[in-house]
Amino acid sequence: MMSDPSQPSIQASTVIRNIGQLVTVAQQPIAGASGLLQVIPNAALAVHRGLIVWIGPDDDAEPMFQHTKAASKDGITIIDAQGAVITPGLVDSHTHLLFAGDRAEEFHLRHAGVSYGELLAQGRGILTTMNATRSADTETLMELAKTRLDTMRAHGTTTVEVKTGYGLDTITEETCLRIINNLNALGVSGINKYGHIRVVPTFLGAHTIPPEYREHRSAYVDLIVEEMLPSFVGLARFCDVFCEREAFTLEESRRILTQAKELDYQLKIHADQLSPSGGARLAAELGAASADHLDFASDADLDAMREAGVVATLLPGVSYTLRSPYPSARRFIDRGLHVALATDCNPGTSYCENMQMMMGLAMSSMGMTVEEVLMAATINGARALALQDDIGSIEVDKRCELTLWSINDYHEIGYHFGVNLVQSTLVKW
Ligand code: NIG
Ligand code: FE
Repeated sequence: MMSDPSQPSIQASTVIRNIGQLVTVAQQPIAGASGLLQVIPNAALAVHRGLIVWIGPDDDAEPMFQHTKAASKDGITIIDAQGAVITPGLVDSHTHLLFAGDRAEEFHLRHAGVSYGELLAQGRGILTTMNATRSADTETLMELAKTRLDTMRAHGTTTVEVKTGYGLDTITEETCLRIINNLNALGVSGINKYGHIRVVPTFLGAHTIPPEYREHRSAYVDLIVEEMLPSFVGLARFCDVFCEREAFTLEESRRILTQAKELDYQLKIHADQLSPSGGARLAAELGAASADHLDFASDADLDAMREAGVVATLLPGVSYTLRSPYPSARRFIDRGLHVALATDCNPGTSYCENMQMMMGLAMSSMGMTVEEVLMAATINGARALALQDDIGSIEVDKRCELTLWSINDYHEIGYHFGVNLVQSTLVKW
């Protein structure tokens, strides 16, 4: 919506002027905007109490808010964007960034021919990181996570989902959930003047079977269902399951997610990543917010997901790291699914905090256009977190969570690669 400039009565605490291109990704047509992403050239944007209250051409902001571009008047803070491109803040809807240790050795072993599945079956992979995470103290884990969040924010992310899944016992899973919640409450160190990062907690106790339950896997599923899920209500918004040959069977996944749904968690699934596991179909059956990976999902599974409104989250960092074929995003988009992109930031399959890298890979190797990757990294990431009514696009009444780019035109995204094109993020809470 563009407001009428003859109505200078809108209350604003901050006005951002001199925006070279405002890439709104609006879900409704906006006056003065054009193209699939509803772009407004030479734009301005006003904010009050953390919400966007007005957007429009910069010229209309002058009479509307009665100030000069770089001055502050009547308590209004004026920010001069100096011609920057502004998009909605990037949403990274799938990460495992809370972990200790690293798996560089396994990365190189895989290059020598040992597969990810083989390493996991040998008790390495996720279990290597579980051991390092169980041994780390809370402060160390917090610092590691803060550093990664800072890197994410520096590359344009304003909302990030963080999963547990390297504790795999009640106490460590709970500790990790408390750290994730603290990260959200505190903001992060080295925060810029306006910036915060929103952290969405996900419980992934069903990441793999821990060694102490190897011979009694059903007892571990019982522990998740009977002890962990009920005691983590309120600490995690989502429950996720790694539904896979090497992890949890379809029936185990259904049991865990059904209990989670009864307890009012929202659902996510690591589905059909290494083999056709039935996870995508289960996501549709249970109304999950997203199914993620999906390399081996069938067309019929994708149709079921679309009908159930499940977002398809693609993780190109995994194909890059495991040197496996990139899934074609066209298969999903042309079937009418909402596609989100995320880093999957984790020490095994995608050690990367940078959403721009995912956007670039999706354009170079998954057949997506720049407009599609921008939607995938903003509004569709928001959908994957069930936050699409609050964030993910620049529209009146949405939260002010923005990414400022040091480029002249959004078409430079993916074209100028391997460097950070983001200048800063701007979040008003
Ligand atoms: O999304 N597939 C399962 N989980 C992660 C990998 C975690 C790990 O290897 O530590 C993923 O790829
Ligand atoms: Fe993952």
